[in-house]
Amino acid sequence: MNPPEILKSGVSGPAKVQSPEANRPRHLLSIAELSSDDIIRLLDSARSFAEVSKRPVKKVPALRGKTIVNMFIEPSTRTRMSFELAAKRLSADVVSFTPSGSSLSKGESLKDTAKTIVAMGVDAVVIRHSSAGAPKLLTEWVDCSVINAGDGMHEHPTQALLDLFTMRERLGRLEGLKVAIVGDIDHSRVARSNILALNKVGARVLLVAPRSLLPDRVEEMGVEVTGSIDEALRWCDVLYLLRIQLERVSESRFPSLREYTLQYGLTQTRWSRLKRKPLVMHPGPMNRGVEIASVVADEVEPVITGQVAAGVAVRMAVLYELLGGST
Ligand code: CP
Repeated sequence: MNPPEILKSGVSGPAKVQSPEANRPRHLLSIAELSSDDIIRLLDSARSFAEVSKRPVKKVPALRGKTIVNMFIEPSTRTRMSFELAAKRLSADVVSFTPSGSSLSKGESLKDTAKTIVAMGVDAVVIRHSSAGAPKLLTEWVDCSVINAGDGMHEHPTQALLDLFTMRERLGRLEGLKVAIVGDIDHSRVARSNILALNKVGARVLLVAPRSLLPDRVEEMGVEVTGSIDEALRWCDVLYLLRIQLERVSESRFPSLREYTLQYGLTQTRWSRLKRKPLVMHPGPMNRGVEIASVVADEVEPVITGQVAAGVAVRMAVLYELLGGST
């Protein structure tokens, strides 16, 4: 029996024959798997999508008919909301899964939960999880695209893409750019993804942290290291501040938060002394008074909210590339 007209897909013309490769879901799990050309293509595409968010009607039909599930098993404001807005601006249907109130809280495994959700006809799952490697595991369980929205201390690829987008839009280039990343590098998936991405596009990276907050084998990461934020401030074009992740780090890694601020914080004194001020960036959420003085945070706020706005455009580019765009 033929399906009623209303249930037909809306695709007209003869069916196209596609290779099995073309039908396989595509994922974004880490920056490590992208080439510099991939990164630049996504940033170029994000620039086009940024324009959509400035229109009176902030919507294009690019992913009409696609269904995306946001599965945030760890807290998030920026990433969760911007993925949701990105999906909606591309006209996809988007559903948010929240662990509390779900059967995860009754003991259902992540695997069974994911399979249950995807059985309802889902094209992509965006997942944040406290365990490194959870998005990769998901790709083995479900037959749809998987996007890593931050997995433990491993990677946060879309954060790095939006950061590079912001640097390129504000400073006009990435190659040769001098970027100092300050703070808790060891626990930071944001730092890991940014270091990989910046290295790929030819930027230089200087890490600024006490030894106790640097990862093992840091010398193999293609970066330089210093213990002096003042030296970094004299050198860099971009000062990228990280949050001390109090949920992942015990204060025993440094004497006290006050001590950390004095040694590594962007204090008002340091900021006001600078003749040439770098672009100050932060992935959020900020700990005002710890890694950045509150008055400095207010001054650089347009850049930091610009990062958030870039997040929507970059995530539109990622969703479009995986679900509807180029191969
Ligand atoms: N930068 C970032 O990942 O922020 P959220 O935790 O609010 O998503």
